[in-house]
Parts: sequence; structure tokens; C-alpha cells
Amino acid sequence: MTAFDFPLAQTDIGDAERDAVMSVLDRGWISSGPEIGAFEEAFAAFCDARHAVMVNSGTSALTVGLLALGIGPGDEVILPSLTFSATLNGVLATGACAVLVDVDEQGLICFESVQAALSPATAAVVPVDLYGQCVDLPRLRQCIGSEIAIVEDAAEALGAEAETFAASGVYQAGHISGHGEASIFGFYPNKVLTTGEGGMLVTNDSQVAARVRARINQSRRNDSDADVTLEIGELPGFSMRGNELAAAMGRVQLTTLGQRLLQRRALAGDYLLRLAAVLPAGQRPFINNVNATSWFTMPILWSDKLERDHLWQALKYRGVASARYFAALHREPAVLALPRDKIRTLDCSRSAHIADHILCLPFWPGLGDQLPELMDRLSHAIHALGSAPEESA
Ligand SMILES: Cc1ncc(COP(=O)(O)O)c(C=O)c1O
Repeated sequence: MTAFDFPLAQTDIGDAERDAVMSVLDRGWISSGPEIGAFEEAFAAFCDARHAVMVNSGTSALTVGLLALGIGPGDEVILPSLTFSATLNGVLATGACAVLVDVDEQGLICFESVQAALSPATAAVVPVDLYGQCVDLPRLRQCIGSEIAIVEDAAEALGAEAETFAASGVYQAGHISGHGEASIFGFYPNKVLTTGEGGMLVTNDSQVAARVRARINQSRRNDSDADVTLEIGELPGFSMRGNELAAAMGRVQLTTLGQRLLQRRALAGDYLLRLAAVLPAGQRPFINNVNATSWFTMPILWSDKLERDHLWQALKYRGVASARYFAALHREPAVLALPRDKIRTLDCSRSAHIADHILCLPFWPGLGDQLPELMDRLSHAIHALGSAPEESA
């Protein structure tokens, strides 16, 4: 494994998180317990939602969320081709057919493409808040009507906002009230809020919340530790619960989320200014909306695919990690090999274009002081593009 001077991300964990985790360890109750309840309550309040259910990952949240909405074999679920494979995995795990549609210029699900994909079998749409941006959910709801479920994949986007054209104002990721059935979040270490691994589902529907709670706990109807009856609900059930250590971390991080977002936005503003001085004509940052984004990476769009790949290598040679994500799912061999009743694909040429030209640069809250050095290395890597690719150290 290459050790990078500039990894893609670094965690932002302080004494408060350490103290919270140590308290849980001292109490000795580390599986399901009061920390989870408190974290869920605070998270639901943050999203103005009636329920939040903590799970062991964002992918789990998506899978059980869709299952709780009754989605399964014979149903179609629409999602963008440009997303992390987790979105597709969550859909496929339900047994539904995944329908891949294109994205818009921002890399967010294209509403025209969604409309073209609708069929009598469409049961849900999973818009993805990609790269910490936010989909205009009220507008999506207007486009597809009220009969089809919306499960927002906000795994990357806690605190992100979108200007909404359906109603004047702003839509904030996870604030689904009246717009969607559920939103899911992921707490992997590159995110604005991390619990190591972990995820959350928010919903206003008590039945959905109850079904999710049962599914993540072996489908047990009675989740009281004192009474381990084998009263089983909908099968299959899973072991996807959160845990007290993760919840304690998440709860502390949520109290400082506003501050974290501001800090990241200040960094993004500085980063964008510096990029403007370093990037050659024709190359550009992919996201410019500093204050609406939940920054966890700094994607740039490079006009030539081969040069983009060469830049990725040249940065690696200089100790800088970057990532060519995300792949356009509709071109992935494993996706192409899926049976016909599990995958349907519309024209996804914009997804393919972005996938071929995007490069995500390092981003983490403490990067500020090192930005000049990072820009220096980026500048050298760009100058090396005319010569033969260097071998990685
Ligand atoms: C768009 C998207 N959806 C879903 C997930 C799944 O989250 P997890 O890794 O917690 O399963 C991720 C992961 O970060 C993601 O980027």
C-alpha cells in the first residue's frame, strides 16, 4: 500500500469523541443501548423527521429502507448510473430490477431521464446527493407524482442544500417531509460526520421505521434484551444494528456539525481560489457552490481522459492521493452481466463523460495549512503531463 503525504481524507476526531467512547467502554454496555437512542433522537431533530434509525452502514440503511417500503422482485427502482456502487448494491439486495438513468451537468440524477424511465413497474426512485451536493427533491417529487416512493441516498451529503425550483427556497438533504419516504446517510471516515462505519435512515412514517428496526435486528418483533423470544417478522432479517461506541461518537459529532460544515466550506473557498491559479485553461473544479455543499472531496473535471489518468498517476508519484470516482455503473462488466430482469439501462452518456473526466483531490478539515504545498505538487504534476508517465514510488 502506498503511504501518501496527502491521503484522500483524514478523520476529524477530537477529545470529546474520545471521552464519549471511553464513557461507553467504562459502562461496559457496547451493543444496542441508550447512546443509540440519544443519537437517533438528535439526528431526527436535525432532519426535522419523526424517526431516525441507526444501522451499521449507509448501504444497510438503503437496503432495509427499500424493503420496508415493500420493494422487492418484480419492482423497478430508478437510480443514476453515476454513483458509488453502494447505491446499486442496496437496490439489488432487495431483488428489484435496477433502472440506471443519466445525470445532469452537476452529476445529479437527470429528471428528464427519470421521466423517460418510468414504467408500470416503477416502485421507487433513489436520487443520490453526489459529491456532497444535494438533489432538488421537491422538484423530483413534482416530476414523478405521488405514487412512487423516493428514498434519498444522502450518504455523502449531511448538511448539503439545494435551491429548489418546485417551491421557492432551499431543500436540505434528509429534510424529506412531504417530498420523500426516507433518506439514508453513511458515516464512513471520509464523511462530515463519522462513526467509523455506520449509517442512519430517517423517515416520517412510523411503520417504515418499525419495519426497519425489526429487519436490522434479525426480524425480531420483540427487541427487548430481557425477553429473547423468537417471534419473527418479515424475512429475511439481518444483523445490521448500530452500536453504542459508534453512536457515542456520532452524537458528539452531530453537536458540532454546523461548525464542521463551516470549517469545510471555508477550506473549499480557499481551495477553489488556489485551483483557479493552478489549473490550465479548459480544466475546472466540478463544484463551485461553496455554501451548499457538504465537502468531503474536491472533484475537478479534466477535459482529456488520458491526461486525467496521467494526472492521477503523476499525483501519486508526488505523494498525493486522488481518485477517479465514480465509475459509470452501466458500463461495469459486473453490471452488464446481470440478468435482464435485474437491470435496465437508459442512455447514460453524461454519466460516462463525467466518469471519464473527473478526478477527486484530497479534502479534510485540517488541510488548510498544507494547501500551498498541495498546490505546488499539483502544479508540478500538471507540468509533467507532457512527458512520459512516471512510475509510482
Ligand atoms: C453515494 C453513496 N451511497 C451509499 C454509500 C454507502 O455507505 P456505506 O459505505 O456506509 O455503506 C456511500 C458511501 O459512502 C455513498 O458514497
